[in-house]
Amino acid sequence: MKQDKLVIFDTTLRDGEQSPGIALTPQEKLIIALQLEKLKIDVIEAGFAASSPGDWEGVNLIANSVKGSTIASLARCVQDDIDQAWEAIKPARKSRIHVFTSTSAIHMEHMLRKTPEEVIKDARESVKLATKYCDDVEFSAQDATRTEHGFLIEILKIAVEEGATTINVPDTVGYSTPSDYKSLLRMVYKEVRGENEEIIISTHCHNDLGLAVANSLTAIEAGARQIEGAINGIGERAGNTSTEEIIMAIKTRQDQFGVEIDAETTEIFETSRIVSKLTGYPVQYNKAVVGKNAFSHESGIHQHGYLRKKETYEIMSPDSVGQAEAKIVLGKHSGRAGFKDAIDKLGYQLSKDELSDAFNDFKRIADR
Ligand code: KIV
Ligand code: ZN
Repeated sequence: MKQDKLVIFDTTLRDGEQSPGIALTPQEKLIIALQLEKLKIDVIEAGFAASSPGDWEGVNLIANSVKGSTIASLARCVQDDIDQAWEAIKPARKSRIHVFTSTSAIHMEHMLRKTPEEVIKDARESVKLATKYCDDVEFSAQDATRTEHGFLIEILKIAVEEGATTINVPDTVGYSTPSDYKSLLRMVYKEVRGENEEIIISTHCHNDLGLAVANSLTAIEAGARQIEGAINGIGERAGNTSTEEIIMAIKTRQDQFGVEIDAETTEIFETSRIVSKLTGYPVQYNKAVVGKNAFSHESGIHQHGYLRKKETYEIMSPDSVGQAEAKIVLGKHSGRAGFKDAIDKLGYQLSKDELSDAFNDFKRIADR
């Protein structure tokens, strides 16, 4: 793969579904997956096949139906998980097994209750098994950002030795800042990937400190060529990196990132709408890219500028993400230009004095 291509890995259907209260049926998952395919997502993590019979069915249904994207299933470093993941994704045109284990001291001691040696053994055997089934294997070191560096590099190198081609460095608890995440990724890139062009270094950031998108983007400069995210940023706790924000940041700031993505941006709004409807998770009004107000202008100064030239207050156009035209919303902060525009659109022709009176009345009402 060309290294300046950035792989977009969407985990709405796996990590996104892990949000409290979300439980999608296999059919609903398929609807979302088909929309993600239209959005030209490179890798769709369709679920965690071994986690429930329903999830297995969902992953399998997607593997049978989606043709354009790689279909991945998550698996712990457990033989049965890997077997089930493979059975579920086997029908896909392009499939990936995504194996993970925890590598931080706190996770190994309290969650896995395993020694570092046992964790390394699990990782080695699991990646080896997964590569027997599938030539596209991703390995994730859960809680990588709180993992002792020497140990992280050791386990990631073993995963590569056993045939993993995507190496994921999750900020599982959203603890990183852009500068530490970038230096961690730089180290992983240098030590684990080196000159091996087969290996893709990946990000997976949670949003506990509201930094998931920033952390993911900064990793591009450190050589990461896969970003994992979820539509509308849904996921465990405060959620994941928001897939649509990554796509639009890359498209809008080509000067900064200089990587190529295949995403069909005009499908973004529809994807967000479908995910919100089927998960029952509303999208906050001021959410970047897909929020109801992402392309609305309320204050007089902004409306005036926008009506003269859209680019004064818009860095992306609503149609580029599949949103309807930008909205001029009248409120107490609006000015004469926005008000006149609204009056014109309603088809009224007012004299200068009538317009002045109407505007004064409008201001009085809007203040209340
Ligand atoms: O947050 C995380 O570490 C994960 C892994 C399973 C990739 O979701
Ligand atoms: Zn996660």
